[in-house]
Formats: sequence, structure tokens, C-alpha cells
Amino acid sequence: MLNYLPVTLGQLRTFLKVAETGSIAGAAAALVVTEPSVSAAVAALRRELGADLIERAGRGIRLTEAGHELALHATDILGLVQSARRSVAEAAGGPRHVRLVAVTTAGEYVLPPILGAFFDTHPGVQVSLEVGNRSDAIARLVARDADIAVGGRPPAESGIAGEAFLENHLVVVGRSDHPLRDRRALQPRVLARETWLLREPGSGTRATTEEFFASNDIQPAAVMTIGSNGAVKEAAVVGLGVTLISSHAVARELADGRLARLDVRGTPLRRAWYALYRDGSRLSKSTALFLNYLMTEDHPHPTDAGPARP
Ligand code: PGA
Repeated sequence: MLNYLPVTLGQLRTFLKVAETGSIAGAAAALVVTEPSVSAAVAALRRELGADLIERAGRGIRLTEAGHELALHATDILGLVQSARRSVAEAAGGPRHVRLVAVTTAGEYVLPPILGAFFDTHPGVQVSLEVGNRSDAIARLVARDADIAVGGRPPAESGIAGEAFLENHLVVVGRSDHPLRDRRALQPRVLARETWLLREPGSGTRATTEEFFASNDIQPAAVMTIGSNGAVKEAAVVGLGVTLISSHAVARELADGRLARLDVRGTPLRRAWYALYRDGSRLSKSTALFLNYLMTEDHPHPTDAGPARP
């Protein structure tokens, strides 16, 4: 073919930097190259793919629809090359490394005992663990910055598959002397009068709480958003409100009496913790080993207040 110019990984990397920084100059500075070389890479992609990829927007530039499409594919292609490198290095006797990302609740309360036992039985495998809320964790998995995510059920139509490995029960808790603590089978709508402590938008716990409100027709009198499980728990302990939270997160406080579980009809909400991965993507040997450990081995279970009322 005349004038055939293959798309190169370098051009894709440059293009993604342009997308990320929003300018040719920004990409050049980030990559420590000249501006003309960035422009040349973008122009070569444009010629090769036959579509305008960027357009002017004020003093900067923005991606066209075709540019957005290319950015998605470029992320996949570069991620795939990166995972090929890691798998090949591992097969050739290099480091065995699994990159985990976990939603906050799983990272804080579910994974630590499991990882401890995994390291004891598989001393040659390194595991790194990033913790973020549900939307961060899914984004890292999609961008191939993580091999496995641990969180709630896989998001619909996201190209992410998941396997449940542990039950996750969500319970309503309040301060230890909460006036409703001795009531049995409370109707959820009774709790509309309470102040609800909600995790930050983007967290799975908040999404589940909002679904709980919607399905029980609850419009809470007041809500307070608090960005971590630890801070939500402390706020509940001092009586600022009630919250719906994984029993893994409050097992200790329920056991030592700092929090009381409220016996609300329809709770505990029975969910599960899932190992999530990109559907159809090839797993490195150590990633497959860890996944198998989560799914089939009798690993330690984190402390759980359990579905029964304490
Ligand atoms: P979260 O996630 O820690 O972001 O609330 C919990 C979940 O997804 O169930």
C-alpha cells in the first residue's frame, strides 16, 4: 500500500497525553519532547486513520468524537501491551505480582486477613493493593491499572465479569442507646425521621443505601455525607445518625457494644463480595492463582457480625 504508515505505540501514547492534558504543549511538557514532535504524532494518526482527532476549543484543544474513540482504544492497546510484558516476564522467571484494587470497605475489612493467609501459603507472589471507592476501583480495572478488583456485583454492561466469593450483609446501626434498639421488625419508613449518615457519592455503600431508600419509599428527614467508613462509624457512635453499612465494617463495634444494630425489616441486605476482572482478558499465572485462592480455598473469613441480630 502506498504511503502506508503504521500506527505506533509511541503515537498512541503521545495522543493519550494530549487527551489527558488538553494541549499539545501540555503533552510535550509531560513527555519531555518538543511540541512539533507531538503535533507530528497526532498528524500521522490523523492521516493513517482518516479522521480529525482533535479540534480547537478556546485557547486549547479538545478531542473530536473520533478522537474519543481512539483514546478508548489506545488505553486498551497500551494496557494490553503492558500486561503482555508482565506476563512474559513472569513466565520467564521474573517477579510474580498481582495488582489488586478494592472498594474501601473490602480493602479495609475483608482483604487484610485473606492477604495475610495468602502470603503465608504463596510466599513467592507479591500483591499490591490500592483502595478507593467503587467508581475509582472500576475505573482502574477498566484502564488495566489493576488485575483484579474486589467489590460489589459487576456493573451492568461494563465488560467486567465477576465471581462472588464471600457473603456481605448490610445492617442498619445507630448509637448504643438508640431509642429504637429494642424494637423488633421495625418498618423501614419509621427510619425516615432519623438523620442518615451516608458515604460519599461514588461509593457502593451509598448506592445501596439510596436503593434501600427508593425501594422502601424513605425520604430521610436529614442526611449527612461522610467520606469514610471509619468516620461514619464514629459519627454513629456519638449519635449523629444511623447508617446502613457492611457488617464486616462494624463487627467490632457491635461486639463491644459501641454501636447497636437496629432490627429493620428487609435487613440485613444480603449482598456478596466479588472478584471482578475484565471479561475475556487473559490473566497472568499469578493473577489466576490469586483468583483461584479467593474462589476455592478455605481462606480466613473476616469478622462478620452475621445476619442474625446480636
Ligand atoms: P464502598 O463499596 O466501600 O465504595 O462503599 C462497597 C460496595 O461496593 O459494596
